[in-house]
Amino acid sequence: MPSFTSAPAWRSLLAHRDALAGTRLAELWSRDPERGSALTFGCAGLAFDFSKQRVTAETLQLLGALARERDLSAAVERLFTGERVNSTENRPALHMALRGDEHVSADGHDLLPEIQRNRERMRVVAEAVRDGHWKGATGERITHVLALGIGGSSLGPRLALEALRGDADGPEVRFVANIDAAEFDAAVAGLDPARTLAVVASKTFTTQETMENALAAREWLTMSLGPDALSRHFIAATANDSAALSFGVPECNVLPFGDWVGGRFSLWSSVGLPVAIGIGMTRFGELLAGAHAADLEFRSTPLERNVPALLGLIGVWNHDALAIATHAVLSYASRLESLPAYLQQLEMESNGKRVDRNGAPVDFPTGPVVWGGTGTPGQHAFHQWLHQGTDAAACDFIVVARPMGALTPHHEILLSHACAQSEALMMGLEAQDPHRACPGDRVSTTIVLPRLDARTLGALLAIYEHKVFVQATVWGTNPFDQFGVELGKTIAGRILPAVRGENAELHPATRHLLAVIRKLGQP
Ligand code: F6P
Repeated sequence: MPSFTSAPAWRSLLAHRDALAGTRLAELWSRDPERGSALTFGCAGLAFDFSKQRVTAETLQLLGALARERDLSAAVERLFTGERVNSTENRPALHMALRGDEHVSADGHDLLPEIQRNRERMRVVAEAVRDGHWKGATGERITHVLALGIGGSSLGPRLALEALRGDADGPEVRFVANIDAAEFDAAVAGLDPARTLAVVASKTFTTQETMENALAAREWLTMSLGPDALSRHFIAATANDSAALSFGVPECNVLPFGDWVGGRFSLWSSVGLPVAIGIGMTRFGELLAGAHAADLEFRSTPLERNVPALLGLIGVWNHDALAIATHAVLSYASRLESLPAYLQQLEMESNGKRVDRNGAPVDFPTGPVVWGGTGTPGQHAFHQWLHQGTDAAACDFIVVARPMGALTPHHEILLSHACAQSEALMMGLEAQDPHRACPGDRVSTTIVLPRLDARTLGALLAIYEHKVFVQATVWGTNPFDQFGVELGKTIAGRILPAVRGENAELHPATRHLLAVIRKLGQP
């Protein structure tokens, strides 16, 4: 399929952009005071207010036409029916199948029995750990979980456990992602191996950082409990069972998932075990149910009010038509502090691509930089840049309607700030003093969750997953591979012997840098 930039609908969108160019957002509001309700849409119980985007009803209609010209509906069907949409790795992307109970087949093979079996095993383990039936090697109850994993094998469970902290009534979960000894040391500090369960999450079970941390955890456990302790203290969540078995994880402790689940889409699989242990399988089921509700709506809602589609299409409009280079995620909820990092991986690893599905270079910008932070602390840090910097960002404000703690006045103030920031970005400030003037006319979407619970969180994350797919469909790229991350891994493998003082072929720049590090590292 030719580039979307040659699609008639895209040319109409560019003409429409030029026609809108002199019109400020403030003017769009004064022309149409009803645009708030016209441009707010619901999905799985969440509300998406696009009225502070540089869009009108006509823009949405043209974006819908673009989606049709890019055959979005057919692409969505291919995704949900298990076609090999991950063309470079020749496999489907069926993470959605983990959240429902519908029959889904890949290559004519029904995946549902396997999905249900894996979910049931996860439930049995999570509940046994929570209710104390799962005993450690010395007969003690498990009080702590060491969750080892990186990227998609860590960011989702960490986000979910932070967001659902209020529901966390199981063992305390500590995460280790980085290959930095300080992180491992901090995680095990004060823990009793006899009461600790290590959960190693790794789709490939080959990721260097995770394997090294798994070795350290194995050593930490067996030093104190003996070599046979692993069966009571070590679990693997992986798509590579044989590697987990070779590592020494007993078969009954390997919780598998299919290779049709991408790493950044794996929260819904056994990778979510630490979450299920922390909040219980019933709540974990609610997370799945929220995501499933979003899946059903994404698949069936007409484009003009299909929230994941609109989120994706407006993102394309902002990035490719309005040339807004970055996308800021601003969570007005402390418990969603990890959301920007989660979405950063989801969006940038998926859509950080420079060739189309056929390998031809693209001639337009694909996925933007995704970054962000928490409100209101961000207001006292980087929001200055949002209001008066020379570059603009498209912002997503994430707001929770109901209070998240006992202090109602806190929540009222929090809400007033969330609303004030999007208004300030849009309206700006005219002032005699140029230092005080704010240009305004800066775009944002506000996403309102009725409350912060497992169901709404599941829906929110699934909606963003589908947004990523919509954008990749418009751009004609594959959002499910991530070959770019391999290069650095290969080079690090070449450099490691030199860091250890062995002979290695090094680029002069690396040789120089290692010398600087060595010099400063001398006692
Ligand atoms: O290096 C990138 C990546 O492959 C991510 O896509 C993935 O989430 C992460 O590493 C961890 O991979 P694994 O789950 O295989 O250890």
